[in-house]
Amino acid sequence: ERGGYPHFMLKEIYEQPRAIRDTLTGRIADDLSRVTLPELSWSDDFVQSMDRVHIVACGTSWHAGLVGKAVMEKLTRIPVDVEIASEYRYRDPIETAGTLVIVISQSGETLDTLAALRDAKARGRHVLAITNVVGSSVAREADDVIITWAGPEIAVASTKAYTTQLVVLYLLAVYLGQRRGTLEDGTAKQILAALAELPMAAEQVLDTAPQVERFAREWADARDTFFIGRGIDYAMALEGALKLKEISYIHAEAYAAGELKHGTLALITEGVPVIALATQTDLYEKTLSNIKEVKARDAFVLGVTFAGDEEMRHSVDEVLYVPRTLPVLAPVITVIPLQLLAYYAAVARGNDVDKPRNLAKSVTVE
Ligand code: M6R
Repeated sequence: ERGGYPHFMLKEIYEQPRAIRDTLTGRIADDLSRVTLPELSWSDDFVQSMDRVHIVACGTSWHAGLVGKAVMEKLTRIPVDVEIASEYRYRDPIETAGTLVIVISQSGETLDTLAALRDAKARGRHVLAITNVVGSSVAREADDVIITWAGPEIAVASTKAYTTQLVVLYLLAVYLGQRRGTLEDGTAKQILAALAELPMAAEQVLDTAPQVERFAREWADARDTFFIGRGIDYAMALEGALKLKEISYIHAEAYAAGELKHGTLALITEGVPVIALATQTDLYEKTLSNIKEVKARDAFVLGVTFAGDEEMRHSVDEVLYVPRTLPVLAPVITVIPLQLLAYYAAVARGNDVDKPRNLAKSVTVE
């Protein structure tokens, strides 16, 4: 059932090219001119009156929401808030009649997310669910559903569910941007062409596995690690740190790179592993200067950037190159080596990779 892989997590990591392809299938027009989402029967009035989006989720699905916020705001100019479901439920969120609530849940059974959905519906909000499980509670109760076709995810650590959630959020952002007239056709075509190439890029990035395994073995005894990045690379840092903590039990902290000197720099000492993500062109130089700050404290820096970036080599100890894509789509690709890093670190430490201590696949309690 693990298809020859030693763990479900590794199998699911390697399934990502297929999962991404399945999630895209039938949703991009052949001439790459537009997104088709027949599951949404949204009128022009509904689309035009949308003036706020609240994305609600937990854990890794919340991290997908953080990327979704950046992309939706960029392409649609609708203000988007991303909320942790267990927080959202107990606040009094500021909503308008035109607020769309999007819940993201791999399992579709996470109690806090489901309760947030029910509360939003009770307040009269329109709720769209992005879920991986057809017929799950979240899928049944939402007004609209977009399925991520990742297939069953067994390992507790979420991998292919995350990348396919990102794909759906990109499709949705392009869809809304085009229908609202905030996204030019040329730009939409460029994004859709790059989306269509993601399965191939995901396939290529899996070739970094031996290099990542070597880092993981070297760092298996580390006490603390840091993941830094700016913009959507910061969202990636959060996801990379969660994955590492969840299954290897190595302490990992994610920091917006510019925040380091507001306290964290005190924790960066000789040999501390820092994984620095630098895929965002407009933030590149700023991230590089943050990398120099941690290097000056003798951290061991692994830089993650697009293939072809020679500049990075001079500032870090090691570089991990990922296939180039549009910066906005980088998370789908860069997360894969971060998943592998967590996986190999957990294996090196002899942990139960698929069933980390004290965690459940589907959290149906508060
Ligand atoms: O099924 P859900 O997407 O609602 O689950 C949410 C979180 O419990 C989940 O993403 C969790 O953070 C993962 N185990 C992280 O790998």
